Amino acid sequence: MSTPLQNHEPAPKVTVIGTGYLGATHAVCMAIMGFDVLGVDVDQRKIDLLSSGRVPFFEPGLPEKLEEALASGRLRFSTDFDEAAAFGDVHFVCVGTPQAADSSAADLTYVDAAFTALATRIDRKALLVGKSTVPIGTAARITAMVQSVSPLGEELELAWNPEFLREGFAVQDTLFPDRLVFGVSSPWAEQQLRRVFAPILDLDTPAIVADLATSELVKVAANSFLATKISFINAMAEVCEATGADVNHLAKALSLDDRIGGRFLKPGLGFGGGCLPKDIRAFKYRAEELGVGQAVSFLGEVDSINNRRRVRTVDLIRELAGGDLAGVRVAALGAAFKPNSDDVRDAPALDVARLLYLEGAIVSVYDPEANANAHRAYPDLNYVESMAEAVEQADVVALLTEWAEFRNADPDTLGALVNHRRILDGRHALNANDYTSKGWQYRALGRPAQAATVELASDLRDETPTLAV
Ligand code: UDX
Repeated sequence: MSTPLQNHEPAPKVTVIGTGYLGATHAVCMAIMGFDVLGVDVDQRKIDLLSSGRVPFFEPGLPEKLEEALASGRLRFSTDFDEAAAFGDVHFVCVGTPQAADSSAADLTYVDAAFTALATRIDRKALLVGKSTVPIGTAARITAMVQSVSPLGEELELAWNPEFLREGFAVQDTLFPDRLVFGVSSPWAEQQLRRVFAPILDLDTPAIVADLATSELVKVAANSFLATKISFINAMAEVCEATGADVNHLAKALSLDDRIGGRFLKPGLGFGGGCLPKDIRAFKYRAEELGVGQAVSFLGEVDSINNRRRVRTVDLIRELAGGDLAGVRVAALGAAFKPNSDDVRDAPALDVARLLYLEGAIVSVYDPEANANAHRAYPDLNYVESMAEAVEQADVVALLTEWAEFRNADPDTLGALVNHRRILDGRHALNANDYTSKGWQYRALGRPAQAATVELASDLRDETPTLAV
């Protein structure tokens, strides 16, 4: 990032409320860009870890950037909201909006609490900025709420600035986003956002300035589109399974049409994580509340297609095992919802491992980074410390998250360890030829049992970029 912030003096002071994946990355990157930043969280453990230079989750490149930001003296962390209110000119709220316990709506408890905690304490002109993913209409509701509790009254302004970062690419996506979206209610709010994103705007990054509702909608619409694209190709995989067609060839052929494109068209076990699944459900729920449920009713089907892939994966593993999973030793390679992450929220891989276990399989789970989180989520499963340990004496090997370690494994080395050379490639991540030529039975979703082993889908993968920062 070449732009010196000095060109944009006086620089606003920034607080970031909530130091999870989004907030911690945002706080670190804002400090890297030259701003004075205070990161705030109610979780003392997270604050202690971050203050001592440790990132509480796995995110490639972030530990180095945290170290750099702390060394610059521009980044501090605290649990004190009084300090935050006194410090910040622009306050970013980055707390989680998980799925509610009793419905598919978003739980806004943390968002409301964070804005209220700030608003009651702020006594000079400042801008509150929501970054969390929220149902449409939340920003308008929160504007009224903060203005009613703040000593500043209507002087206190709110903006919405959705965040599109992907786990595993968080630093890159924050410092070099495709676009910025500013949801504002006044020229002053836009001006504050332009100041605080000046180093990114100077890179000619497009900025869309919109009203609050549009900026909320951009985020859920983007995630809905991506989820739909993944479920589309996975629905085609279901059709392939009924016809003997091969979804890998199909995806490749579709991707070569510029209008369709290959990204998020990779078939397999489907999407998971802390965003896509809960965001499409919350969007559908909110649209129904607004009386436009029919407009997004297809999102229910997108969700169902996605969930059916998990069940179908178990079917294929059962077929490979000869029709019954009881007592069958399965190596579950991967638990995270995608590679380069330790996040197991709504992780397809872990769900498959759980379903196998419930059918009586003896499952050994190995993930290079997510074992600890997976163990917390499903303590009943057996977790092991290496791929070799997982596949030892396995009757079926199931590749469920496409970590490079699994993609690059040697079929002969693995074959020497297993009980039976049978592999389920849940992510179309392997060269089937490499395995079948070494005597493995190879199965993948949406491919015939004896697939022509031409590898076509690898270029549809979202590869980890080299950090250009
Ligand atoms: C997503 C959005 O991409 C990001 O813009 C938003 O801010 C948060 O949600 P993330 O959850 O980090 O980011 O994961 P992403 O890389 O989008 O992958 C989502 C899921 O889709 C993963 O489980 C992945 O394995 C799956 N996927 C992705 C496919 O099954 N096929 C594909 O072709 C692409």
